[in-house]
Amino acid sequence: MPSHLFAPINLRGLELKNRVIISPLCQFSALDGTASPWHKQHVGSFAISGAGLCILEATAVSAVGRISPQCLGLYSDANEAALTAIIRDVRTYSDMPLGIQLSHAGRKGSTRASWELHKGHGVPDSEGGWDVEGPSAEAFTEGWRRPLALDDAGLARVKREFVDATRRADRCGFDMIEIHAAHGYLLHEFCSPLTNHRNDGYGGDLAGRMRFPLEVARAVRDAFPKHKPIGVRITGEDFVDGGLNLDDAVVFARALKEIGVDYVTPSAGNVAPGMKLPKIGPGYMVHFAEKVKREAAVTTMTVGMIYEPRFAEEIVASGKADMIAIGRAIMDDPRWPWHAATALGERFVAPNPYARSAPQHWPGYAAVHGVTLKTGEGGMGHATRE
Ligand SMILES: Cc1cc2nc3c(=O)[nH]c(=O)nc-3n(C[C@H](O)[C@H](O)[C@H](O)COP(=O)(O)O)c2cc1C
Repeated sequence: MPSHLFAPINLRGLELKNRVIISPLCQFSALDGTASPWHKQHVGSFAISGAGLCILEATAVSAVGRISPQCLGLYSDANEAALTAIIRDVRTYSDMPLGIQLSHAGRKGSTRASWELHKGHGVPDSEGGWDVEGPSAEAFTEGWRRPLALDDAGLARVKREFVDATRRADRCGFDMIEIHAAHGYLLHEFCSPLTNHRNDGYGGDLAGRMRFPLEVARAVRDAFPKHKPIGVRITGEDFVDGGLNLDDAVVFARALKEIGVDYVTPSAGNVAPGMKLPKIGPGYMVHFAEKVKREAAVTTMTVGMIYEPRFAEEIVASGKADMIAIGRAIMDDPRWPWHAATALGERFVAPNPYARSAPQHWPGYAAVHGVTLKTGEGGMGHATRE
């Protein structure tokens, strides 16, 4: 039976060849927001992975909106030129759709790259740190910067920054945009009652708290070509008492759908300290996508410890989610989709220069690995252990 995971899906005008999506993955490898040679290899390797879509990392819409000084941005001509050049190169050998996640880190900006956290979270001014901004003037916790609460002019500016970055993303050649409204960054901070203590029309009940993220999503939608899809990474649960829950996610997803958002990815957590995490295991957020899909009637992507092709297949086949985002597993094995296709009995055709990478072409493979190879026509072949 043909695989559901490897069935195509259409997002607005964009046809994805399969439902394996490369999750956005911060690389902390940019200089002043500008992509580096690292990004070239990173995107290049994913571009031949066989995934249906690669969504580039959280990319700041302003220098202040970066998580760390090394974060990727799309707020200057130099940022735009570097990403344009990478996409132009990739297009010479891959037709994989490329997306970009636009983001503003809010009060969680001016922090360190993940591998420098032993030095403490906050980056001092002397090391290139900056004043951060958020919905309310409350720091994440001790050692983090206290943000400036955005006033009306600040909100209008941030919205403009999202619009400008959207136009730049289109000019770069990105096929889609994902808006980051999860993981405790600015748009999530607006949504969550734990971080939004405003007294104006952008705070208060859920409708008030969602208002700014929805305005941003609408502005991005309006600024991006009609045929190109946009998605939003949202929060299924804050995992902190009094925080956002799955019912809130359904309401947010419905409102996003109404303004033309093509899919949502419910993720979770990291907006405030004191998380009470449930049992974390493979697919621990699939039920978020399932409920949001059912109750908001929106296309969903799920994410979170989905490592096994058959598990990914089961999630899509049972209709719990429409697409599967893979993060760490695809950094570990950038050919994950080739191997998943093989495991699910699908034919995969490697790019011509790598055509002889299929195990049936490896002299001595069977003897070394103790396997019998059943060769398919082209593609990766099938290896079965005796
Ligand atoms: C190195 C790294 C960087 C990440 N960067 C981002 C990011 O830029 N945007 C985002 O929404 N999630 C980011 N995440 C979260 C992943 O996209 C994904 O949701 C998470 O790792 C769970 O999926 P996995 O178990 O398949 O890795 C990052 C995760 C890792 C490990």
